[in-house]
Amino acid sequence: MIAMVSPFKLLILVSFLFMTFSINVLSQEDLEERVYDYAEDNHQCFKCHGHKTFHFYNEYLEREVKKRMNPYFIIDSVKYYESNHWNFGCLDCHSYDYRTFPHAGELRMEEKPSCLDCHGGDEEYAQYHFEQMDEEFHRSVHSTKHSEDFTCWMCHDPHTYKINARTNENIKQTIIYDNNICLSCHADIGKYQLLSDNMNPNVLVSHEWLPNQALHFASVRCIECHTEINDSILVAHNVQTKDKAVKLCVECHSQNSLLMASLYKFQSLERRNKLGFFNAAILNESYIIGANRNIYLNIASFVIFGLVLLVIFGHGILRIIKK
Ligand code: HEC
Ligand code: HEC
Ligand code: HEC
Ligand code: HEC
Ligand code: HEC
Ligand code: HEC
Ligand code: HEC
Repeated sequence: MIAMVSPFKLLILVSFLFMTFSINVLSQEDLEERVYDYAEDNHQCFKCHGHKTFHFYNEYLEREVKKRMNPYFIIDSVKYYESNHWNFGCLDCHSYDYRTFPHAGELRMEEKPSCLDCHGGDEEYAQYHFEQMDEEFHRSVHSTKHSEDFTCWMCHDPHTYKINARTNENIKQTIIYDNNICLSCHADIGKYQLLSDNMNPNVLVSHEWLPNQALHFASVRCIECHTEINDSILVAHNVQTKDKAVKLCVECHSQNSLLMASLYKFQSLERRNKLGFFNAAILNESYIIGANRNIYLNIASFVIFGLVLLVIFGHGILRIIKK
C-alpha cells in the first residue's frame, strides 16, 4: 500500500521542487516582450551618456567636435533597461531642461527624488516595507556619520539597481551583486572619499582573521556580519560599527545558523510555504552547515529514489498479474 502512494507523491514533489527553482527570474523572452515606452526619448540622452565619447556642434568653432564623457556620467544602457526602473524616462527624475546642451549650470543643484517620494505609503510595494527600511537606514553607521550626503542612492545606483535577493534564484549571483554594492566604496578610494576624509581601511587586511577569506566573501554577504538582523524585512539595512560585527564562527557554522535569518531567509520562507515541513528538512540538510551542498544533487537523489520505488512497484504489479 505504501509503495502504491509514495512514488506518485514523490514525483509530484520532485516536479514541485523543479518549479520552485525556476520561478521569478526575468528571462530573455520576458525582456524581449517588454514595451519600452521611453526608449526613443532616452536615446537622446544615451547618445552622449551611453558612450565614452560624445559629439556636439560647437557654435564658436562652427563645427562638430568630439569630447570625452566624464566616466561618472556614463550610463550602461543594457543595465538600465534590465533595472527595476527600466520603464522610466530620464526626464521622470531629471529636469526637462537637460534636453538642451550645454546643460544649464544651475541644473547641478536640482533636487533628486528619494525612494520614499515614490514608494512611501504605496500599497503595491507594501511587501518591501520601505518605511521600515528608511528607519533602519537612518540608524546605520553610514547615515548617522554622513547624514544628508549618504542617501539610498549611494547603494542603489539610480540607473542600474535591480532587486536580487527575492528574485534571483542563483544565490551566488546575489552574493556577488550585494557585495559589489559595498565594495563600490570600500574598495574604491575615490568614491569613499567623496564622503569621508579618513583613509579607506583595506577590507582585505581588516578581515585577515577570517580563514579562507576569498571563499567566505564568495559564500556570504557583507551584510550578514555587519547588519542587525530584522525579522520583518528581507534585507536588513542597519549597518553597524565594526565592534558590533559578527566574529564568532559558530554564529554561522552551527545547526541554528544566522544565515537562515539572513542570506537564506527568502528561500526558507518561500519553500516552507510551498512545500511544508518536508522541505524545511531538505533546506536544513543542504544549507545550514556547509552552505555549499549542491541542491541539484539533492534533487537528483530524490529522482533516483522515486524511480527505484517505481521499479519496485511496477515489478510488484507484474508479479501480481502473472499470478
Ligand atoms: C551632447 C551630449 C549630451 C546630451 C545629448 C545630454 N547630455 Fe547630459 N551631460 C553631458 C555632459 C558633457 C555632461 C557633463 C558636463 C555638464 O554637466 O554639463 C552632462 C551632465 C549631465 C548630468 C549631470 C549634471 C551634474 O553635474 O550633476 C545629468 C543629470 C545629465 N547630463 C542628464 C542628461 C539628460 C537627462 C539628457 C537627455 C535629456 C542629457 N543629459 C543629454 C552631455 C550630454
Ligand atoms: C529613478 C530616477 C532616475 C532615472 C529614471 C534617471 N536618473 Fe539619473 N540620477 C538620478 C539620481 C537620484 C541621481 C543622483 C545620484 C547620486 O546622488 O548619487 C542621478 C544622477 C545622474 C547623473 C550624474 C551622475 C551621477 O551618477 O551622479 C547623470 C549623468 C544622469 N543621472 C543621467 C541620467 C540619464 C541619461 C537617464 C536616462 C537614461 C537617467 N539619469 C535616469 C535618478 C534618475
Ligand atoms: C520617481 C519615482 C521612483 C523613485 C524615486 C524610485 N522608484 Fe522604485 N519604482 C518606481 C516605479 C513606478 C516602479 C515600478 C516599475 C515597473 O513596474 O516597471 C518601481 C519599481 C521598484 C522596485 C521593483 C518592484 C517590483 O516589484 O518589481 C524596487 C525594488 C524599487 N523600485 C526600489 C526603489 C528604491 C530602493 C529606490 C530608491 C533608491 C526607488 N525605487 C526609487 C518608482 C520610483
Ligand atoms: C549601505 C548600502 C545600502 C543602503 C544605504 C541602502 N540599501 Fe537598500 N539594499 C542594500 C542591499 C545590499 C540590498 C540587497 C539587494 C538585493 O539583493 O536585492 C538592498 C535591498 C533593498 C530593497 C529590496 C529588498 C527586498 O525586500 O527585496 C529595497 C526596497 C531597499 N533596499 C530600499 C532601500 C531604501 C529605501 C534605502 C534608503 C532609506 C536603502 N535601501 C538604502 C543596500 C543598501
Ligand atoms: C557610498 C560609499 C559606501 C558604500 C556603498 C558603503 N559604505 Fe560602508 N562606509 C562608507 C564610509 C565613508 C564609512 C566611514 C564612516 C565614517 O567613519 O566616517 C563607512 C563605514 C562602514 C562601516 C563602519 C566601520 C567602522 O569603523 O566601524 C562598516 C561596517 C561598513 N561601512 C560596511 C558597509 C557595508 C556592509 C556596505 C554594503 C551594504 C557598505 N558599507 C557600503 C562608505 C560606504
Ligand atoms: C564573517 C563576518 C564578516 C564578513 C562576511 C564581512 N565582515 Fe567586515 N568585519 C567583520 C568584523 C568582525 C570586523 C571587525 C574586525 C576587527 O575589528 O578586528 C569587520 C570590519 C570591517 C570594516 C572596518 C575596517 C577597519 O579596519 O576599520 C569594514 C569597513 C568592513 N568590515 C566591511 C566589510 C565589507 C565591505 C564586507 C564584504 C565584502 C565585509 N566587511 C564582510 C566581519 C565580517
Ligand atoms: C557569516 C557566516 C560565517 C561566519 C561568521 C564564518 N563562516 Fe566560515 N563559512 C561560511 C560559509 C557560508 C562557508 C562556505 C561553505 C562551504 O563552501 O563549505 C564557510 C566556509 C568556511 C571554511 C572553508 C571550508 C572549506 O571547504 O574550505 C572554513 C575553514 C571556515 N568557514 C571557518 C570559519 C571560521 C574559523 C570562522 C570564524 C573565525 C568562520 N568560518 C566564520 C560562513 C561563515
